[in-house]
Order: sequence, then structure tokens, then C-alpha cells
Amino acid sequence: MDFMEVIAKRRAIRKYKKDPVPDEKLVKLYEALRLAPSGNNRQPYKFIFVKDENTRHEIVRRACHQDFLYDAPVIMIACCEQGRAFDTAIAVDHMVLSATNEGLGTCWVGWFEREPVREILGIDSSMEIPILVPIGYADECPEAKPRKSIQELVKVI
Ligand SMILES: Cc1cc2nc3c(=O)[nH]c(=O)nc-3n(C[C@H](O)[C@H](O)[C@H](O)COP(=O)(O)O)c2cc1C
Repeated sequence: MDFMEVIAKRRAIRKYKKDPVPDEKLVKLYEALRLAPSGNNRQPYKFIFVKDENTRHEIVRRACHQDFLYDAPVIMIACCEQGRAFDTAIAVDHMVLSATNEGLGTCWVGWFEREPVREILGIDSSMEIPILVPIGYADECPEAKPRKSIQELVKVI
């Protein structure tokens, strides 16, 4: 796909097929995360890909308020050093766009309880857990959501 097409086609997907995500595709997502830039090239993050169904379901049951997450075959949990959510968002966006390019659906999810996720996955208390992202084949084709115009967003002087 052309790069702008990837950007335009990405949607928040909230309905997933149960089909597993092939490892060859996941490896591309890992590489997209790995190649992302970060301040001072510090790479202050870790990304946990949860494929195990029991663990996924425990995370969704104890930490999430959104049942659509039960169906995604993979949930990626991003962890980072304190105050490094900015770097992490850049890497996660690389991954999300790469997933779109691979024909996969994703959804940024910021509304979840951090402490149960920390406990279930054994994430150190020094790390933040800014975001999680379900990954799988979309079982819906949402329309594009409206966006502000370029005139509203961009000022050229
Ligand atoms: C930082 C961030 C947090 C989000 N958290 C949630 C969430 O907890 N649950 C959810 O269903 N969608 C969440 N979203 C998805 C947004 O609602 C969605 O991206 C937005 O409505 C635009 O729709 P689109 O992604 O299909 O263009 C989040 C998006 C971002 C960027």
C-alpha cells in the first residue's frame, strides 16, 4: 500500500475475527516498533504481545471496560520508563500503521486499569503502562471519522 493510503485506511477496530495472526505478520510489527525514533535513542520501552488466551481474558476481565477486547487474538501492552509515553506513542503508531499495511485491525486503548495488568504480567512498578492495543483481523469496516480541516489544524506563517 502507498504510505498515505495506509494512513487513510487505518481505523479504530472494535470487532475482531477469532482467526490467529500469523507470526510472519507479527514479526513485521515487532520490527516497526524497533525502528521507531526515541529521545536520545534511549528506547525506553518494552512491548508485551499477549497471545495466550487465558492471560488475555484475565486482562480483559480484570482491567478493561470494553468487551470487544475479548475477541482480539493478540493484545499488545506497552510499558515504558516514567514520563516516556511520548516516545512510546511514536513506536506504537509505527506498529499500528504497519498492522494496517499487513491487513490487520488495531485500536488504541487508553481506558483500562493499570494495576491488574501490572500484576498479571509482572510489570515492574518503575514502569508506566500508557496504552494497550488489540491486534487481529477486523470483522467490521467502520467509516472514516470526521477530522478537523487543514485550515483549522495547520498554520503556515
Ligand atoms: C491515546 C488514545 C486512546 C484511546 N483509547 C480508546 C479506548 O480506551 N477505547 C476505545 O474504544 N478507543 C480508544 N481510542 C480510539 C479513538 O476513539 C479513535 O482513534 C478515534 O475515535 C478516531 O477514530 P479512528 O481511529 O477510527 O480514526 C483511543 C485512541 C487514542 C489515540
